[in-house]
Amino acid sequence: MIKPSQKKAGTKPAKKAPASNSVSDAEAAIPAADNHSKYQPTKDADMSAVSLDTEDGLMKLFADNVKDIYWAENHLVKALPKMINAASSKSLKEAISNHLEETKTHVERLEQVFEILGKKPQAKKCDAMEGLTKEGEGVIEDTDAGTPARDLGIIMAAQKVEHYEISAYTGLSKLAEKLGLTDAANILSETLSEEQNADETLAGIADNDIQISSDTKE
Ligand SMILES: [Fe+2]
Ligand SMILES: [Fe+2]
Repeated sequence: MIKPSQKKAGTKPAKKAPASNSVSDAEAAIPAADNHSKYQPTKDADMSAVSLDTEDGLMKLFADNVKDIYWAENHLVKALPKMINAASSKSLKEAISNHLEETKTHVERLEQVFEILGKKPQAKKCDAMEGLTKEGEGVIEDTDAGTPARDLGIIMAAQKVEHYEISAYTGLSKLAEKLGLTDAANILSETLSEEQNADETLAGIADNDIQISSDTKE
C-alpha cells in the first residue's frame, strides 16, 4: 500500500547524491551542448525518501528480487561455458572462466541471503537474463569462429549481462541496508564489486587484447 510519505517523495526537491554514487557531480553537470550524446546518466534511486512504515512491501520487493537474481546467476553458470568455448582470445577465455568461478560463489552468497531471510533458496525466472544470454548465443551463431568479430561480440554480450547484474546488486544492497539487513547488504556488495571488476576486465580486453588486422575490418 502506498503511504502518504511515499506520495510526497516524488515532489521533493532533488537531494544531493551520496558520495558513493556512480555518477559524479562533475559528470552530471556537463551541459547538453558539450555532450555528443543526448543520453544523460541517471542517478541511483533515492531510497532515503522511503518511509520505514512500508517495511512489509520493501521486504517482499527485496525477497522477490533476490529470487530473480538467484535464477539469473544459476542460469549464467550454465550459459558462461558456451561463451568460453566460442571465444578464441586466450585472455577472454581466461576472464570468462574466472568469472564463471565467481558466479558459482554468487549463487552461494545468495543462498546465504536466503538463510538470513529465514527462507529456502527459491528461483524466480528472470526474463531479462534469459534474453541477454539468448542474445549472446545469437552473436555466436552470427559470427565465424576465430574472428575478432566473434570475440568482440561475446564481450559486448557479456558486458550487457554484467551491467544487468550491477544494477540488480546495487539496488539489492541498498534495499538490504534500508531494511537493516547489514550482513545481507555486505554479502551483496561483495558480489557487486566482483561484477564491476568483471565488466572492467572485459572492457580492457576489448581495448587491448583483440587484434584487428586491416583485412578483418570489413
Ligand atoms: Fe554474478
Ligand atoms: Fe557477472
